[in-house]
Amino acid sequence: MTNFKRKYPATRLRRLRRNNSIRNLVAENVLTKDDLIQPVFVKENLKKMESIDALPGIFRHSEESIIKEIKELISLGIKAVAIFPVIDEKKKNETGSEAINENNFLNSVIKNIKKEYPEIIIIADVALDPYTNHGHDGVLNENGDVANDETIKVLEEQALNLALAGTDIIAPSDMMDGRIGVIRKKLEQTSLFETAILAYSAKYSSKFYGPFKDAVESTKFFGNKTKDAYQMAVANIDEALHEVALDINEGADIVMVKPGMPYLDVVRAVKETFRMPTFVYQVSGEYSMLKAAIENNWLEEAVMIESLLSFKRAGADCILTYAAKEIAKKL
Ligand code: PBG
Repeated sequence: MTNFKRKYPATRLRRLRRNNSIRNLVAENVLTKDDLIQPVFVKENLKKMESIDALPGIFRHSEESIIKEIKELISLGIKAVAIFPVIDEKKKNETGSEAINENNFLNSVIKNIKKEYPEIIIIADVALDPYTNHGHDGVLNENGDVANDETIKVLEEQALNLALAGTDIIAPSDMMDGRIGVIRKKLEQTSLFETAILAYSAKYSSKFYGPFKDAVESTKFFGNKTKDAYQMAVANIDEALHEVALDINEGADIVMVKPGMPYLDVVRAVKETFRMPTFVYQVSGEYSMLKAAIENNWLEEAVMIESLLSFKRAGADCILTYAAKEIAKKL
C-alpha cells in the first residue's frame, strides 16, 4: 500500500510542463511570422491615412502611406499582404465596371508597391463588391439576383488585370460557381503561369464581416441585404468539402476557410480531407471582438496569440489576420 502510494502516479504529464524551455521542446504547434498575412486597406484620393472605428489599430491608407506601411511590415518579417481598395464613390455603378479598368486605383497601387518592394507577396481579392453601387459581389439579373455566369466573365477580366499589375496571388472571394476554372484558364492562356490562386472556397455568409464593411465604406451601399444566395450557409460542413473539391479540380493552388474561429471544425476537415495548402481568415469581427475586450481589460492581450494558435492546431498553414503586424512585433 505504501509502495503503491509512492509510485502513483507514474505518468506525470506535468513533468513536461515545468518551465518554458521544456514546454517549448514538446510544443506540437508553433506560430511564426511566416504564418501571418496582413490585410491592408487603400483608399482612392485619400490625403492622410485614417483610422477605422470598427477595426481598432487598422487604417485606410493613401497611395503614399501604403508604401511606408509595406516597408514597415517587411522590416517586421511579414511576407504577404491582402490588399483591399476603397474606390472613389463616383466610380461605383450597377455593373462594377471600374473593376475591369486596367488602370484602376487598385491596379496602380499594386504596380507602385511592386516597383518599390518586389519581394512582398501581394494577394488581391477578385469580387465586384468594392465596385458595385449595390454592394453585391457580382452583377445582377433582371430579378435583382447575382447572375453567376455573367459575373464570372467580369471576374475573369478583373483577375487578369490584377495579375498583369503584379499580384502574386489572385483570391476569388465572390463564391460564384465555376470562377476558379475560368480564371485559371485565362491565366494559362495569357502565359501567367506563376500567378497563384487562393480560393476563398468555404466562405460562409457570416455576420462576422461587419467591421470590414466599415473599413471599405460599403455599409451605405449594401444596407441590410445579405449574401445568402451565394455565400455558404453557416450550418453546413459537407458542402464546404464539396466547394473545396471543386476549387482544387478547377485549379486552385491554395484553399481557404472564412471566418476562422467559429469554423475551426471546417479548417480541420478541409486539411484532413485534401492535404492541400489551407489558409484561414480571422475576419474583421473576430479581431474586433478580441480587441474590444482587450481594450476594456476584460481579456488579456495574450488571447490574440491563443486565437491564432488555435488555427495552427486545427491544421491551417497560414492565417490572414488584422493582428499580423502587432503579433509579428512580439514573435
Ligand atoms: C468581399 C470580402 C469580404 C471580406 C473579404 N472580402 C466581405 C464580404 O464578403 O461581405 C470580409 C473580410 C473581413 O470581414 O475581415 N468579397
